[in-house]
Amino acid sequence: MIKKCLFPAAGYGSRFLPATKSMPKEILPVVDTPLIQYGVEEALAAGIHEMAFVTGRGKRALEDHFDINYELEHQISGTDKEGLLKDIRRLIDQCTFSYTRQIEMKGLGHAILTGETLIGKEPFGVILADDLCEGQGDGVMAQMMRVYEKYRCCVVAIEEVDMDEVHKYGVIAGKKVDQDIFMVSDMVEKPERDAAPSNLAIIGRYILTPDIFDVLRRTETGKGGELQITDALKTQAREGMVVACRFRGKRFDCGSVNGFVEATNYFYRKRKSSGK
Ligand code: G1P
Repeated sequence: MIKKCLFPAAGYGSRFLPATKSMPKEILPVVDTPLIQYGVEEALAAGIHEMAFVTGRGKRALEDHFDINYELEHQISGTDKEGLLKDIRRLIDQCTFSYTRQIEMKGLGHAILTGETLIGKEPFGVILADDLCEGQGDGVMAQMMRVYEKYRCCVVAIEEVDMDEVHKYGVIAGKKVDQDIFMVSDMVEKPERDAAPSNLAIIGRYILTPDIFDVLRRTETGKGGELQITDALKTQAREGMVVACRFRGKRFDCGSVNGFVEATNYFYRKRKSSGK
């Protein structure tokens, strides 16, 4: 039912300089797989086949990653290295990839609005690849799909964070209406500890209905002088309905060096113990 997933991927990745000086942060590998590939795998596992990327200058490696590299593939054809490309080839075979560029970096809300041309008038998923998630049972996007099917409104994924961390996230206030489901009444982008309505932080997974684009168009710039998706969702929560879903699984903040190293250790150990 949800056919498209949007990947905002225009950011500079300045926390990873110098690594990201000439390489997109989304291509940084956790073990041997670029962050963006984990995100696309998660979308596909939720039954989504149309991947839409909002990129920017210096991000061509993203397009090349989801394409055939004839020379390389010819070179390794028939060798034991061929198997290493199995997963990415499967993604290329099963998905379509489309791209548009964000010319100026004016925030996540602006990036999502830039993606309107690829999405059109249908509900869609959003994955921020630097939040690397491993769902317990189903992937996080698949878990959110079920919530969308029930409530038919915008859905955000949340997790409980330490109060000292709330200033890094969009934070919700809401009423629990089901196990792990909250009806959102308020949202604040990156509040100070004392102004946070709860410790339920939004992580980089959303399902959005297409009316969000009109709401974004009438949303004023917010925190950091940027157009915030959190502010647009707050309007939607007040005028209509937004639900938050506490997902089952793990999340690594791969936008930070600490989270990135944790993810690397976790996936490396997992790989080792599975004997690969
Ligand atoms: C963005 C959103 C924020 C959300 C976070 C999740 O912030 O603006 O509401 O909690 O992603 O990772 P960013 O991390 O891009 O600064």
